[in-house]
Amino acid sequence: MAKEMGVDAEYIKEIERARRSLRALISSKNCAPIMLRLAWHDAGTYDAKTKTGGPNGSIRNDVELQHGANNGLKIAVDLCEEIKANHPKITYADLYQLAGVVAVEVTGGPTIDFVPGRKDSMVSPEEGRLPDANKGASHLRDVFCRMGLSDRDIVALSGGHTLGKAHKDRSGFEGPWTREPLKFDNSYFVELLKGNSEGLLKLPTDTVLVDDPEFRKYVEIYANDEEAFFKDYAASHKKLSELGFTPP
Ligand code: HEM
Repeated sequence: MAKEMGVDAEYIKEIERARRSLRALISSKNCAPIMLRLAWHDAGTYDAKTKTGGPNGSIRNDVELQHGANNGLKIAVDLCEEIKANHPKITYADLYQLAGVVAVEVTGGPTIDFVPGRKDSMVSPEEGRLPDANKGASHLRDVFCRMGLSDRDIVALSGGHTLGKAHKDRSGFEGPWTREPLKFDNSYFVELLKGNSEGLLKLPTDTVLVDDPEFRKYVEIYANDEEAFFKDYAASHKKLSELGFTPP
């Protein structure tokens, strides 16, 4: 019935119930990082020109899950199925974005405003819309600009790498970006400014944030002022979670 569904009082109540279920699941399974990555990869395919892709739940399609950039994300899709089974009214599109918001919250990050009402799509975008970790500043700008996002959004959102780690069998990279990968804080930026640290990862697209003077301005602000990072992160994450979405 999802197609006819509107955001009425009952839907909003169900969102709050799902939020509580997600808090419990994410805390007990320590799966905040992969849930955040799921939300970002569903949303980050948005193309502002053609108004295609975006946070529409299409990442659950096998064809999209099999895109190279999404290696490993079936784990997160399957975890969300447990929530969907108990809260069937909620669209996948809302569920994945809610999971991203809750992942940041339960690991100590900022509260991100969540507006429900996204519609599900079974249409997956072509492969190649998500950023390639081996590329440079102009590639990052091309990809985020296509979504309608700015330099500041790029740096703030890259702070998502304060959570989790790379896995050799998923991306070819290995290791966490910070010493406490289950804590959402500004340590990603502190580590970026320190340069190479034993045991910590820096992707080429992370290093570019200190090498490019426009990006670096924000890295310095966020490394020195966690509150400024949280404020910008919450605003950029909300934008990402609402690409192409007009609240009903
Ligand atoms: C993990 C690339 C932006 C959140 C990863 C991995 C790569 C990557 C290669 C490792 C995947 C694996 O091996 O498991 C990039 C690139 C970005 C980017 C090139 C361009 C700026 C973002 C953004 C967010 C994010 C905007 C969220 C706001 C995460 C998280 C993980 C991750 C939380 C860890 C997942 C886990 O622990 O399983 N990213 N990412 N990334 N990314 Fe990004």
